[in-house]
Amino acid sequence: MNSVLNDCEKIWINAQLATMDPQVEALYGLLRNHSIGVKNGQITIISPMQDINIDECHGEIIDADGSILTPGLIDSHTHLIYGGQRSGEFTQRLNGTSYAEISRAGGGILATVAATRSLTEGGLIQQARPRLEALLNEGVTTVEIKSGYGLTLTDELKMLRAAKKLAADYPFRLRSTLLAAHAIPPEFHNSADAYIELICKEMIPLVAAEGLADAVDIFCEKIAFSSSQSEKIFVAAENAGLGIKVHAEQLSNSHGAEIAASYSAWSVDHLEYLDEAGIKALKKSGTIATLLPGAFYFLGETKKPPVELLRQYQVPMALASDLNPGSCPLASLRLMMNMGCVLFGLTPEEALQATTRNAASALGLGESTGTLSVGKAADMLLWNIDDPAQLAYQFGATPLLQRIFAGELSHV
Ligand code: NIG
Ligand code: FE
Repeated sequence: MNSVLNDCEKIWINAQLATMDPQVEALYGLLRNHSIGVKNGQITIISPMQDINIDECHGEIIDADGSILTPGLIDSHTHLIYGGQRSGEFTQRLNGTSYAEISRAGGGILATVAATRSLTEGGLIQQARPRLEALLNEGVTTVEIKSGYGLTLTDELKMLRAAKKLAADYPFRLRSTLLAAHAIPPEFHNSADAYIELICKEMIPLVAAEGLADAVDIFCEKIAFSSSQSEKIFVAAENAGLGIKVHAEQLSNSHGAEIAASYSAWSVDHLEYLDEAGIKALKKSGTIATLLPGAFYFLGETKKPPVELLRQYQVPMALASDLNPGSCPLASLRLMMNMGCVLFGLTPEEALQATTRNAASALGLGESTGTLSVGKAADMLLWNIDDPAQLAYQFGATPLLQRIFAGELSHV
């Protein structure tokens, strides 16, 4: 008698498990003709079909009929709560004005800040719903949401509270990130250092005390904050016990990734201008390199992140949507998997690792989700596909048979 099997609430039988578990030595960590059982929202058993007697299972038995089961997809970098939209800037950019020029002229992020400040928490939630639903409907089960369009204590808290309230209505795991250092607010026009001090002394400790964010992020770039200002933010995040993330080396090399790595950042994101010294630092700290091909595509950039060098140093890569109104208004992680392959040269297996296992680590969740492994969350997707590569190959149709969140079938 197998007591774990006996105890399962549900068991999927006759499945092909694309576990994404590095301990399973096969492409995609694939286990053919397996069963996977769950209890209390967690995976409790993974077994070859021939090793179990299904009659011993008292829970619900679901026949996967040979279909492929993967971990739930994880979007580890979004700005999906915001007010308004910026199609006017899209037109300006198509006519030759650059993202940085628009930003310097007071548009860009600051335009969304004005629109976000003018909305209530409820208004923000309303506008964010279709964006979140688009992600969840294509199989995303964990989403990170950043603040960063409030830039006052009240408005940053409003964004983080909106994220929490929104999350309560849907079956997914939320990770939230304080990105108060996204742009220099108009009130601090010539005193960025004073704003950084406000973030470090007031915002970070308060947000940590109220449990409103899991991590802190900063836009380290010539048009935003310097590497020494970034370092102050990292110190404050570390003191508050929050994770560290950074927008770095997107438009130039400011060495933000290297500095973030020295503070054991969970992830460094964008990275088009990352150099070898930065990559060595990431390798040393175990920090995830998050690539955002949607922003690269939407801004018409030409400098690509150093994927081959990241591979050589075995730095784990994540892919995320960066969903935001300025540099990537594209609410699809599946599209990012495709772009990761087509634009940056990732393999379909790397693209799935980048949106499961490595994305979990980019959110400090590497121990609890991101692979099909006993003891991890039962966030799983059953697909009507023949090969896991189809998840990166194809876009626009979602061949999802079942979306399972914390062990429950969960349609959005
Ligand atoms: O990740 N790089 C900075 N922040 C966002 C863009 C935000 C915006 O333009 O509204 C990004 O690309
Ligand atoms: Fe971003």
